[in-house]
Amino acid sequence: MVKGKRVGIVGAGNVGSTIAYSLAMLGSCHEIILRDNKIEIAKGKALDMSQAAAAVRSHSTVIVAETMADMTDCDVVVITAGSPRLPGMSRDDLLMINANVTREVIEGVAKYSPNAIVIMVSNPLDAMTYVALRESGFDRSRVIGMAGVLDSARMAAFIQEKLGYGGGQIRASVMGGHGDDMVPLPRYSTVAGVPLSDVLTQDEIDEIVQRTRKGGAEIVALLQTGSAYYAPAKATAIMVEAILKDTKQIHPCAVYLEGEYGFHDVVSGVPVMLGANGAEKIIEVTLNETEKAMFAASCASVQGLIDTLNTNKFFEGAK
Ligand code: 2OP
Repeated sequence: MVKGKRVGIVGAGNVGSTIAYSLAMLGSCHEIILRDNKIEIAKGKALDMSQAAAAVRSHSTVIVAETMADMTDCDVVVITAGSPRLPGMSRDDLLMINANVTREVIEGVAKYSPNAIVIMVSNPLDAMTYVALRESGFDRSRVIGMAGVLDSARMAAFIQEKLGYGGGQIRASVMGGHGDDMVPLPRYSTVAGVPLSDVLTQDEIDEIVQRTRKGGAEIVALLQTGSAYYAPAKATAIMVEAILKDTKQIHPCAVYLEGEYGFHDVVSGVPVMLGANGAEKIIEVTLNETEKAMFAASCASVQGLIDTLNTNKFFEGAK
């Protein structure tokens, strides 16, 4: 039998299932394999999506893995599994809970899809990417966090809203971690190549920067019962497609830094060339002093989470 491209998605909640739907509609791969502890719900969604794929004459099918052992030989595995923050739970409690979920999932990925490129989506994103990398033993090029594509898309949407024109022509740039101290870069953002400073005032640009940083929280406050999923899912699907099609396009992604931008042993969002081998190249953009300081502050907060994992002896005994 000819082996087609297979994409595994762990966690079939709103984000995971919307990624699957997006990929099925694009026909990016032959099989999309959903894994969730709620097996019947995952099966219902998989059937529904396979039927939607048939409706648009896409060759993709969506199936369910009842255990990680059924998610074999994937080219890409996307991990969205994790707990949301519940009442009474501290940020550190959530960090430890999701680090344990990530550890369990990544063990299965390493065993049953040992050649996969892993895309992390679970929060806190940068720390979970770090955990997935450490626990998988994979090369850093094969463990990539999704956040920059989402945060840049949010910034682009806010620029379009402010301008009232330019939709589809806006290239916004965001670096750093996926948190309140992410680093939107107006200097590297344009509308059809025109610098933002030529079409917006500094106050307007500052407002867009602040709104981008709080983009996830703005949606949580409106939805009340959960967080965003259409844009996070589409951003992930864009990364999956770039890898499957080996496009070598540049996307902002969370990767492990080994000296780039002057940082070591931390994960942060930087421009990355995506291709069949994952994060094939990290691009070093020239930052001014203010931007460098913002990037350093963002790395420091991710480092704080890694320190908490170390204080709790999370990595002791890791591969
Ligand atoms: C978001 O930014 C919650 O990380 C998620 O929408």
